[in-house]
Amino acid sequence: MLPIDLTGKRAFIAGVADDGGFGFAIAKAMAEAGASVCVGTWPPALNIFLNLLERGKMDASLALPGGGKFGFEKIYPLDASYDTLADAPEEIRESKRYKERGDFSIEGVTAAIASDFGARPLDIVVHSLANGPEVKKPLLDTSRSGYLAAVSVSAYSLVSMVRNLGPLMRPGGSFLSLTYMAGERVIPGYGGGMSSAKAALESDTRTLAYEAGRRFGVRVNTISAGPWASRAASAIGFIDTMIRYCKANAALPRELEAPEVGATAAFLASPLAAAITGTTVYVDNGYHSMGMAVDPTALGQ
Ligand SMILES: NC(=O)c1ccc[n+]([C@@H]2O[C@H](COP(=O)([O-])OP(=O)(O)OC[C@H]3O[C@@H](n4cnc5c(N)ncnc54)[C@H](O)[C@@H]3O)[C@@H](O)[C@H]2O)c1
Repeated sequence: MLPIDLTGKRAFIAGVADDGGFGFAIAKAMAEAGASVCVGTWPPALNIFLNLLERGKMDASLALPGGGKFGFEKIYPLDASYDTLADAPEEIRESKRYKERGDFSIEGVTAAIASDFGARPLDIVVHSLANGPEVKKPLLDTSRSGYLAAVSVSAYSLVSMVRNLGPLMRPGGSFLSLTYMAGERVIPGYGGGMSSAKAALESDTRTLAYEAGRRFGVRVNTISAGPWASRAASAIGFIDTMIRYCKANAALPRELEAPEVGATAAFLASPLAAAITGTTVYVDNGYHSMGMAVDPTALGQ
């Protein structure tokens, strides 16, 4: 048997605020493989997330196939828009959902992890977050600030996380992010500079794999996932159409399941993938390799 064994490893997954997204599916797969899992949660979503956990609303999702359920070792407030607390405007720092959260910047979460677990406590870091305030606008109509916000939160945050968390990684460490086909091909409706952010994320994956590989001895990969009706994806407004379209036109005519992304993430984070870095790994039922939509009438079916 060739197992995915993450026993004794610690993962930090940024971008978990419920049990409906890829971040949660990745957390669960890593826990199933034996890792302890900490998460970073966007402060505006943190109270609801903690409530869901406390009231047992996520117990079914937390159940492990072998019995029992997994828990998060620690939940950190994280707003990936900010590298340091001083970067956050005062009105954010003083606002209700941020005020009591301490240092929610990338530097802050790095310091908190080091203080909780010691000098080199991490093996796996997952970036599973994105935000584009103008995602519903065509790129052509996107404001400069909307575009820069999308690229800042959804792409630059990975650069900052690798720089800050890289020194906390043990040998063989692995960074992973989530990207989408819209970074390579036109997906009408995926606007607001989010396509630009995904293109940057994929390019940065290659450059960071080289730079952080040499500086910290870590790997950096990204998973290009097919459409999945998470909270973030549902906010774009046409996720059901995207799912139906991909099911009809992918190489494998089936819907993607989030645990399939989780399992790929666990593999990529494991020693089994020790020589894989700088890559975009497609977990999309082969949709990316199609060059033409399947039209049953054109095929005479
Ligand atoms: N769902 C899809 O169809 C799909 C497809 C391909 C790639 N992805 C990518 O997967 C990743 C995870 O998204 P998801 O679809 O699972 O949705 P999700 O809603 O589960 O995850 C997005 C998370 O980002 C967090 N977030 C937003 N702004 C933040 C900020 N400034 N700081 C910290 N956290 C912030 C949200 O609170 C949320 O927890 C994203 O990068 C997304 O682009 C999603």
